Amino acid sequence: MSKGVMPVSRIIGLGVGIPETVLSNADLEKMVDTSDEWITSRTGIKERRIMKKGERTSDYCIKAAREALAEANVDPLELDAIILATISGDMRFPATSVFVQEAIGAKNAAAWDVSATCSGFLFALYNADTLIQAGRAKKILVIGSEMLTSMVNWDDRATCVLFGDAAGAVVLTKAEDDRGILSIAIGSNGSYVDLLYSIGIGTASRTGGTENGEAFLFMNGNEVFRHAVRMLERTAVEVVHKAGLQPSDIDWLIPHQANTRIIKATAERMGLPMEQVFLNIHKYGNTSSASVPLAMYEARKEGKLKDGQLMLSVVFGGGFTWGGMVVRF
Ligand code: UT7
Repeated sequence: MSKGVMPVSRIIGLGVGIPETVLSNADLEKMVDTSDEWITSRTGIKERRIMKKGERTSDYCIKAAREALAEANVDPLELDAIILATISGDMRFPATSVFVQEAIGAKNAAAWDVSATCSGFLFALYNADTLIQAGRAKKILVIGSEMLTSMVNWDDRATCVLFGDAAGAVVLTKAEDDRGILSIAIGSNGSYVDLLYSIGIGTASRTGGTENGEAFLFMNGNEVFRHAVRMLERTAVEVVHKAGLQPSDIDWLIPHQANTRIIKATAERMGLPMEQVFLNIHKYGNTSSASVPLAMYEARKEGKLKDGQLMLSVVFGGGFTWGGMVVRF
């Protein structure tokens, strides 16, 4: 008998869509008053990927979706739903998920987007896991994708060095044995909206937006950092216990890749050594809702996260929003 509760749903395929263009810290040194030393020591980021002009968020979602479906050996017509987490979609409407639906030919799927900033993938997965538990869906495509470089202020060194673009997708189905999502939790607290937000395209812009209507991202990094460390630990403890496990049972911590120092603090508080923490922030920066599926994908491809192993994931983002899950692969 394996440890922990029995899962409801299981991830059977993973895929990613990653822009080719690399923006290194050295490139950023030429754009704003910053240094590779500052960015590396404060964040852990060495480079990030950025989308080209003319490309769309859905281009990368479609790529990630096709790869995840191929690994899962699932025909797009079998999908009951496509749930896409993004705050940087193709258009204000329709939802970016419908462009994915059309491109992959998932005619039987209902498609909708979820907006929960960097926690979006966990929120979308929570939706999907709940639909499967309720018997309302059998196979669901869940995508996290963000092209935040399209909304950063390239003159603001405090934020423009942090973000990168990517998409990650998973196919979820009903669990049949002890493999799958053992526990999942999400949460929000609207008291802290002033610490991380973007204006420019919403109705709020009519009273306080940027003059030229651009949708810039604003963050009080210091304050967000403080809250992130506290909430990530609290959520990690919650989902580990919900899974019927102890922190010492966890094989891998695969958290939201926002800042190596935040990740180290979380690992320390959970008593997990850094050898059990998967990091790819140095290659991609903070890819927001794409960060967890992208990290899971690479951890699997690199042969680190093995079948039967237990992964703990925690995320935190603007809103505030947060989430966590324990998965047995
Ligand atoms: O994914 C959603 C959740 N987001 C996060 O979790 C991000 C949380 N926050 C952070 O990761 C960190 O707060 C940052 C990486 C954003 C900033 O690191 P920090 O150690 O909190 O730096 P700081 O904001 O306190 O700034 C320290 C100094 C300041 O200069 P003074 O006032 O001490 O002279 C900044 O002006 O560093 C300066 N600074 C920079 N210097 C060089 C800020 N950005 C830069 C930069 N290059 N890019």
